Amino acid sequence: MNSLFFLTLFLVFIFQTSVNCNDEIHYPFHIKGQQQKGCDTTLSGFELLFKDNITTIHFPSYGDLIVNSISYDTKKIDLLDPKNCTHRVFLNLNLTLTPFQYYYVLKNFTYLNCSTRVLQTSFIEVPCLSGSSYHVYTVDPEVPMPSSCEEVKTVAIPFKYNPYISDNSLGLRLTWNLHESQETKEENQTRDSHTARNTVVGMSICVFVMATVVRIKVHMSRRNFQKKEGQLLHSVADL
Ligand SMILES: *[C@@H]1O[C@H](CO)[C@@H](O)[C@H](O)[C@H]1NC(C)=O
Ligand SMILES: *[C@@H]1O[C@H](CO)[C@@H](O)[C@H](O)[C@H]1NC(C)=O
Ligand SMILES: *[C@@H]1O[C@H](CO)[C@@H](O)[C@H](O)[C@H]1NC(C)=O
Ligand SMILES: *[C@@H]1O[C@H](CO)[C@@H](O)[C@H](O)[C@H]1NC(C)=O
Ligand SMILES: *[C@@H]1O[C@H](CO)[C@@H](O)[C@H](O)[C@H]1NC(C)=O
Ligand SMILES: *[C@@H]1O[C@H](CO)[C@@H](O)[C@H](O)[C@H]1NC(C)=O
Repeated sequence: MNSLFFLTLFLVFIFQTSVNCNDEIHYPFHIKGQQQKGCDTTLSGFELLFKDNITTIHFPSYGDLIVNSISYDTKKIDLLDPKNCTHRVFLNLNLTLTPFQYYYVLKNFTYLNCSTRVLQTSFIEVPCLSGSSYHVYTVDPEVPMPSSCEEVKTVAIPFKYNPYISDNSLGLRLTWNLHESQETKEENQTRDSHTARNTVVGMSICVFVMATVVRIKVHMSRRNFQKKEGQLLHSVADL
């Protein structure tokens, strides 16, 4: 009876912790149209869209990118290009007016658009940016430009195109920064409510365990007593 009561209490608290806020997406991110009590902080740049089981984030300079994973403690967000062309994202994505930066150290690379194929070892064609009559390369800005090429843009990106690296899984990792004032205030609020909840859950687990232990002890001592009684009766009978 006793432990059943505590178990119920315990489950109620567990349940409460998981319905309060979307477990997978939480602060500073939120899903468009899914703001709930306790998660109603809407920071610009952190809005995600959820459609057809796919979570995306919109960047005005590029468009929608698929959210593969978010790591809140290390502030990492891994994205995928729905069109499978990470170097098109690198070429166009401008993170200046967003809370995000690339997670990796950046280096300047020059995108070249060439009317003929360039047969130099440092020129590796980016297939998803090239067509039958033009060939796009990402090269070191120091490399002399062949006459058949024109510069598209020089941008600071994590790496140049490499056919051996599945850049879809490696490249589009961003990290984020909040404004100091926003961060302390809102993180404190979130932390405080989390701490309160964790305390309640921790305490109910503790009470539940203690109740169980007490029950087992009572049960055992009762059994011991019965055993001793039995022995006593035996010894009396033996006499
Ligand atoms: C979304 O996922 C659920 C369960 O994984 C599945 O039943 C549903 O058909 C999916 N919907 C779409 C639009 O893919
Ligand atoms: C994206 O690229 C991977 C590997 O290069 C390929 O297996 C996959 O089919 C591509 N997806 C799309 C939508 O083009
Ligand atoms: C990115 O956007 C900012 C602000 O709109 C602009 O000043 C900057 O030149 C852009 N950077 C690139 C590489 O286009
Ligand atoms: C890239 O080049 C620009 C212009 O020369 C420079 O301001 C910037 O610091 C460089 N970025 C990196 C990561 O080297
Ligand atoms: C390269 O040039 C071709 C035609 O000259 C153009 O259609 C294509 O969009 C260009 N690509 C890039 C990445 O600038
Ligand atoms: C947030 O918490 C830190 C210490 O954890 C404290 O110094 C700061 O004043 C708090 N900020 C607000 C706005 O409550």
